[in-house]
Amino acid sequence: MGCLYIFLIVTLLSIGSVLSWREHRIRRSIDLSVTNPLDTKLPSDLVPTNYTLLLEVNAEDLSFHGNVNITMTCAKRTNQINLHAHHDLQVDEVNLEVFQHTQSGKSMPVKIRRIDRVPKKPLLVIYLQDDLSVGSLYEVRLLFKGEIWENTEGLFQGKYKQTSGDQLQDLSYFATYFRPNHARRVFPCFDEPAYKVPFKVTIIRPKQYHTLFNTELESTELYTNDKVADHFKITPPISTFTLGFVVSQLEELPVSGDNAPNQVPLRIWSRRDTQENLKDVRAKITLVMNHLTNFWNASYPLEKLDIIALPNFGSVKPADNWGLILFKENELQQGYYAITQELVYQWLGSWITPNWWSDAHVNKAIAGFLSASTAIELDGGVEFDGKWPMTILYSIYYEFSKRYPHSRITAMKQETTCSKTELVLRMLNFTLGEDTFRRGMQNMIKHREFKTFVTDDVWESLTKQSHLDNRLCESATINEVAESWIEKDRIPVVKVIRHYGKQTATVTQRVYLRERPHDVPEQDKMLWWIPLVVARQDKLDFSNTSATKWMKKVKEVTLENLPNANHFIIVNPEEIGPFPVNYDEHNWNLLADYLLTQDGRSKIPTYTRAKLLHDAWNLAYAGDLSFATAFNMTLFMQYERNHLVWNPVFTLIDHIGRHIDMSAAHKKFEIYVRTLLTPLYEELVQDQQEEGDNWKSNLRSLAKSFLCKAGYKPCIEEAQRVYKNWMESAEPDMGNPVANQYICPVFKWGTQEEWEFGLQRVVNFPEMRMKSERTYLLKTLAGCPIQASKINRLLNITLLENNGNFTDNDISLIFKMLSGGSNGYMALFKFLQQNWNAIKLRFKDQEGMWDNLVNSATGSFTTQEGYDMVSQLYVQRQGEFGTAEHIIEKSLKNIKEETKWSDENLPVIEKWLDRFLNQHKLGSEKFIG
Ligand SMILES: *[C@@H]1O[C@H](CO)[C@@H](O)[C@H](O)[C@H]1NC(C)=O
Ligand SMILES: *[C@@H]1O[C@H](CO)[C@@H](O)[C@H](O)[C@H]1NC(C)=O
Ligand SMILES: *[C@@H]1O[C@H](CO)[C@@H](O)[C@H](O)[C@H]1NC(C)=O
Ligand SMILES: *[C@@H]1O[C@H](CO)[C@@H](O)[C@H](O)[C@H]1NC(C)=O
Ligand SMILES: *[C@@H]1O[C@H](CO)[C@@H](O)[C@H](O)[C@H]1NC(C)=O
Ligand SMILES: *[C@@H]1O[C@H](CO)[C@@H](O)[C@H](O)[C@H]1NC(C)=O
Repeated sequence: MGCLYIFLIVTLLSIGSVLSWREHRIRRSIDLSVTNPLDTKLPSDLVPTNYTLLLEVNAEDLSFHGNVNITMTCAKRTNQINLHAHHDLQVDEVNLEVFQHTQSGKSMPVKIRRIDRVPKKPLLVIYLQDDLSVGSLYEVRLLFKGEIWENTEGLFQGKYKQTSGDQLQDLSYFATYFRPNHARRVFPCFDEPAYKVPFKVTIIRPKQYHTLFNTELESTELYTNDKVADHFKITPPISTFTLGFVVSQLEELPVSGDNAPNQVPLRIWSRRDTQENLKDVRAKITLVMNHLTNFWNASYPLEKLDIIALPNFGSVKPADNWGLILFKENELQQGYYAITQELVYQWLGSWITPNWWSDAHVNKAIAGFLSASTAIELDGGVEFDGKWPMTILYSIYYEFSKRYPHSRITAMKQETTCSKTELVLRMLNFTLGEDTFRRGMQNMIKHREFKTFVTDDVWESLTKQSHLDNRLCESATINEVAESWIEKDRIPVVKVIRHYGKQTATVTQRVYLRERPHDVPEQDKMLWWIPLVVARQDKLDFSNTSATKWMKKVKEVTLENLPNANHFIIVNPEEIGPFPVNYDEHNWNLLADYLLTQDGRSKIPTYTRAKLLHDAWNLAYAGDLSFATAFNMTLFMQYERNHLVWNPVFTLIDHIGRHIDMSAAHKKFEIYVRTLLTPLYEELVQDQQEEGDNWKSNLRSLAKSFLCKAGYKPCIEEAQRVYKNWMESAEPDMGNPVANQYICPVFKWGTQEEWEFGLQRVVNFPEMRMKSERTYLLKTLAGCPIQASKINRLLNITLLENNGNFTDNDISLIFKMLSGGSNGYMALFKFLQQNWNAIKLRFKDQEGMWDNLVNSATGSFTTQEGYDMVSQLYVQRQGEFGTAEHIIEKSLKNIKEETKWSDENLPVIEKWLDRFLNQHKLGSEKFIG
């Protein structure tokens, strides 16, 4: 149960969700786990066996009321009945009744002592006169009422407009969103996923609407003059969170052609005006349904499926009620991913359900993995642009190699746990083989229909199948493998040292740490189950993805029968497992040389090329590999044209660039960056005419902005030309005709006059224009210049002249931008030094601003020279720092650490760059600076 325990802790720590680090298309939709972590678990002495529920929707006063009869079995002696009921839900305590069902079919009233609503907990407790008897059936009958809200929890109202003739009609609908635990907002219930029982439901609605529910309509009767009661077929056993209905006037999309004879009825609903855009949804869903049916070897488990494109649906994620899925309109119009994910939950989630919120992580991860692989298979990877799993993988590499993963945003922790589980599933799919993996999953759901599962059930099922298929040695279990990856917020790095004479290699594992210092406690105890998949140059074959050997939570293993010294090996190709790999220098150089040949580049698949590059740079950045070797690995990028390989390079250029910003090597680094990027960019510009792929224009604009920053003349001249038009326009404050990507190059490489013009635009910025445009200008005015004169001017007017056109927020932003590059923080530091008294006076009542300034001015140095300057100021102004005393002390400590890095790496970097520049005899005719 180790996994479960960890999951619970994860859930406890995280509330809400933060997804910005991840691309929107990879955003998870379902989230059983984003629930109140302290959700009260009901005692298990009473177990519901079925519900009958009647609910009336009052459209006029936006309320609902109804009654529910819950039949329960007594499993343990008790004298109370605990039910979930949200505070907002009113329960009629006077007319509440409890009955015992006798053998003979009679109902005997049970005496109630009192009824409690527990403060601060969504609980209703009925205390009884006497104990209930074990094994007997009881029924509680409750009347309740509540309000219909606008936000998507419980029962909510949504509005939309629809053209009717030449008018616009205002329409509304009423829909439910019960995931993860909002059923309790609408009726008292056992609101936990594990209680899966049949529901018999009646919904009363205004006549002009219709109602869609989990199951088909059974009968309809007139209720009052203008209201109608719909009785629905009794549901299969379901959890409260998958219950749902929609009362609306949405229209069904006409079915063109016949529904295939053996297919469940599939109906798609939307407002009339969007029907045209949803034409191909049916075909897409049918494809996905077939795909999933094959994967699970189990037909869609219900009699029908309603898919709704819900107008103005405010929820972050779809409502995947069983048999009734509510999407945002645009979600249905995108590719396959979002649709597949919700459909997966119809099997795993609704039919077979996670036992508790903690098990929902693995459910979500399976859905994520399955949706991505389905989407890729169905559209050939168009939707993802090949980015799955790279986007999640890289964020995991960065996050888990920090000194304190998730130190800032705990909500991210939950999200990354889930992503990591997804990557572990991908790893198992590769190493166990697709067949074994699929059969294991099929067995997992078999015999659990209408029941629940826990995380370990998934791993056990995979273990059994792997043993059966001989894909895993008898002594090992997938539980151990998975747990070693999921229970820690860390990943390993594997180091392969080859012994060329013996044709063997020593493989070691340890925790992967990138940010310095690497003083993470207990790191020696962290070990993983790691599959070593090996590709080798003498028998190049990337289709074999099973492990040559597993590192079974041991520090070291030996690989044997490797090729000779003329041939490289690649461990963990295609990022089969989520871990970086380091090699001895000779193997790295074999790889670097091979990638420089056209034949070599064509034989190594894309993800593997990206991995080799990404690993080499990050290992060098972490201090685990010589930069000379890492730079050697980048040489092939001159010929690389695949955006997947290029994407991480921009991050790396940025990271390294910042780090060596202050040193003499920086200029050389910029020349080197230009050399890499120029051929790529010029080629991309040439075929700009053709109907461009999305990735091409993205790559072009990235390459361009990096080149521009590095002083690429054609770009800068173009930027200045456009900028000149702005300077000459009659009313420059009315709008800005210069594209954002041109502004920074002009402020960086352009004249003082051009920069000053920009400054005046910020000062005169009219109220009515978009504030974000002003912010962008201010950020670039501060962050881009390399000349101290520009920065001093900005600091003069904002700090010394006290110009009222700049707010404290503006000034903080300026500090932040200046701390991002050495020209900036150096100028800021000197400005502080020279104007110490005036600035201290200025901020005498603003500790926050003062601290901020000291931090920005001293915190970013990375060399001994910087250390000396800061410590000199520290000594000179001893006792005058006030609240910022500990800030400058922290700065000094950090600089020391960074200096160590610089001392070790800068000479190597510079030497490599010198050699490179010499060899290439690089002209700089196309560049300034
Ligand atoms: C609920 O369970 C009781 C007792 O087993 C049974 O009498 C009743 O018919 C059931 N109701 C529904 C709707 O299944
Ligand atoms: C609950 O039981 C009572 C008594 O049999 C009945 O009047 C009421 O209609 C039932 N409620 C539902 C929702 O069926
Ligand atoms: C499950 O697999 C068996 C054997 O391959 C096949 O005959 C059957 O049609 C499959 N069932 C479904 C629902 O896919
Ligand atoms: C980098 O590549 C060059 C040329 O192939 C080679 O001579 C050199 O040893 C390599 N440097 C490192 C540190 O691997
Ligand atoms: C800033 O102000 C000082 C004195 O107020 C002046 O000497 C200096 O030239 C100004 N610097 C800039 C760049 O405007
Ligand atoms: C804003 O800047 C202009 C131009 O420098 C100046 O004349 C004006 O006084 C400033 N406004 C305030 C409130 O300081």
